[in-house]
Amino acid sequence: MKNYLTTPIYYVNGEAHIGHAYTTFITDALARYSRLIGNETYFLTGTDEHGQKIEESAKQNGKSSQEFANEISATFKNLWDGFDISYDKFIRTTDADHQIGVQQAFEKMLAKGDIYKGDYEGHYCIPCETFFPESQLVDGEFCPDCGRPTDIVKEESYFFKLSKYEKPLLDLYESQEDFILPRSRKNEVKNFVSNGLHDLSVTRTSFTWGVPLPKSCNDDKHVMYVWLDALLNYITALGYGDDEKNMDFFSNATHFVGKDILRFHAIYWPAFLMSLDLPMPRHIAAHGWWTRDGEKMSKSKGNVVDPKAVAAAYGLERFRYFMLREVPFGQDGDFSQRALIDRINSDLSNDLGNLLNRIIGMSGKYSEYVIDSVDVKKYHSKELEEMLLVTSSVERFLTEIQTHRYLEELWKLFSIGNKAIEDHAPWVKMKEDRKDEALATVALIANILAKASILLHPVMPDTTNTIAGALGFEINTESYNKFIKDDALLDTFTIQKVPALFPRVEEPLMEEAPKAMIEETKEEKPKKDKKAPKEETTTEDEVGLITIGQFFETSLKIGTIIEAEEVPKSKKLLKLQVDVGEENPRQIVAGIKDYYSAESLINTQACVVANLKPAKLMGMLSEGMLLAAKDENGLCLVRPENPRKAGAGVG
Ligand code: MSP
Repeated sequence: MKNYLTTPIYYVNGEAHIGHAYTTFITDALARYSRLIGNETYFLTGTDEHGQKIEESAKQNGKSSQEFANEISATFKNLWDGFDISYDKFIRTTDADHQIGVQQAFEKMLAKGDIYKGDYEGHYCIPCETFFPESQLVDGEFCPDCGRPTDIVKEESYFFKLSKYEKPLLDLYESQEDFILPRSRKNEVKNFVSNGLHDLSVTRTSFTWGVPLPKSCNDDKHVMYVWLDALLNYITALGYGDDEKNMDFFSNATHFVGKDILRFHAIYWPAFLMSLDLPMPRHIAAHGWWTRDGEKMSKSKGNVVDPKAVAAAYGLERFRYFMLREVPFGQDGDFSQRALIDRINSDLSNDLGNLLNRIIGMSGKYSEYVIDSVDVKKYHSKELEEMLLVTSSVERFLTEIQTHRYLEELWKLFSIGNKAIEDHAPWVKMKEDRKDEALATVALIANILAKASILLHPVMPDTTNTIAGALGFEINTESYNKFIKDDALLDTFTIQKVPALFPRVEEPLMEEAPKAMIEETKEEKPKKDKKAPKEETTTEDEVGLITIGQFFETSLKIGTIIEAEEVPKSKKLLKLQVDVGEENPRQIVAGIKDYYSAESLINTQACVVANLKPAKLMGMLSEGMLLAAKDENGLCLVRPENPRKAGAGVG
């Protein structure tokens, strides 16, 4: 099957921010998924370079429009290249073949009687490159999209007969019920169309930085309206009007867009396509905005977070994972380092990374790193069934572009793995001479990691290649078919040691935190008088207070006490084996015998300080400390209210 995926083309009036990175990451993930399952895939991105806004930005920068567009377009291309975005074509609306395609489309619309010449007078918002009818203006003057004042512009213009397509558009929304994703956005588009469509002015005479009209029009006063020029990129990139061999990708197109440009894609674009007698795209998928302090992030507001800085500090793939996991597709999300760190520590480090470390460690100890799935079915049929439930149903979330649900569901595989380790405690089986069972559990985990890494590949391509490399296979359509579609298990292999994939992050890593990332420290730190001197002085109020960063220097984890015994000759000490989600349980010697018997502690949980230097108590190694509270009524351990996975972070 052919599959066409596009990002919006980005305006070249400033550099990219995380909002742009988000659209691109989603599209890249879907393109990689499409290739993985064996589709012939075409992924398009690029830059939108014409229009009054760019012309003005170029002037302000003392450059020609073309020079300015070249520079900024290159920053987008370099960014995506640096981020290893797997696009097939990077289109620029200043490309000669694009401009020829746009002129041909214009001629066809003219010939069809869908474009006519008239006069236009209206309120025009230059930053949004859009005319707005009086009824939509805020306070009769301001742009309903960006809030800036509009200018009254009167000019001769060519019009596209948008009104003619009102009914066909409404029919389209009915017949292709998933045309707009998420479906919750369909009504707003339908209502807009049902309220009546005005014909659309599609040329401008007030500036010159645009695609000229076709020669046959014999009218060089006009240039094309930037949205007509821009939307047509989706077909000129496939060779429209020239070598059309790629045009058949178009009937299976998904355009990813932000919610602010949904109207252009769900109304104007299909109407243009109808006029050109071309097929409709499959989906217009509209995501929400990344905000800062609840406000839209945008170049013009100057409140942007630089995606390069985030990727440099935290790693590209963790950043990708975070963006796709954190926010339900279609909804807005607020970016914060704290939320990113939490995702890294809990999802990536605790759940995924630990499983790989554990089986590398265990297989090294138990079987010289050889892992064999031979007994997995015998000892773990329940887990295999649970895994199949996930792997056979999770992909529908990707096809519905619910990336957060997809990842959430996928993570159930790691829960199955972590639970199997707790339930089957391979180290106990080894001690009891039940090596087959211990090895079967290790192999079960290897299979979980294999299947999960294939399904996670579109989101974290490099990391999952590393996991697959350690497990002795390559991620490609063949292994997808084998391990996901046919639900096969891994053949016997020798696991390769890899360094820990996701070391925990204890405090924010972006030293020069952009303003957008300071909000999380605002609450925790006592506010200083605004007029206070800049240098770091400690006020009386602050004595004894620590910052959130200092707090997170302590690694607190939930531990499951799996063994407990009294220490001979000691009145106070108990020797415990505590599973904190690592390869082997830790030995912790705790002075709690007056308050707890050894048996009463087995299979209960406690909160462990996990990054203390190991100490020796009565000659015994103690690799952590249990948190406890003490008053006149005695001592009690600090425990989670409900059981949590061994190793779950506390903070
Ligand atoms: N050039 C037009 C698109 C033409 S497509 C034929 C355009 N460009 S843009 O650079 O302003 O925006 C590109 C994309 O980035 C849009 O989908 C927009 O929604 C998205 N984002 C811009 N700011 C954003 C956030 N703060 N958050 C998430 N995405 C946002 O529009």
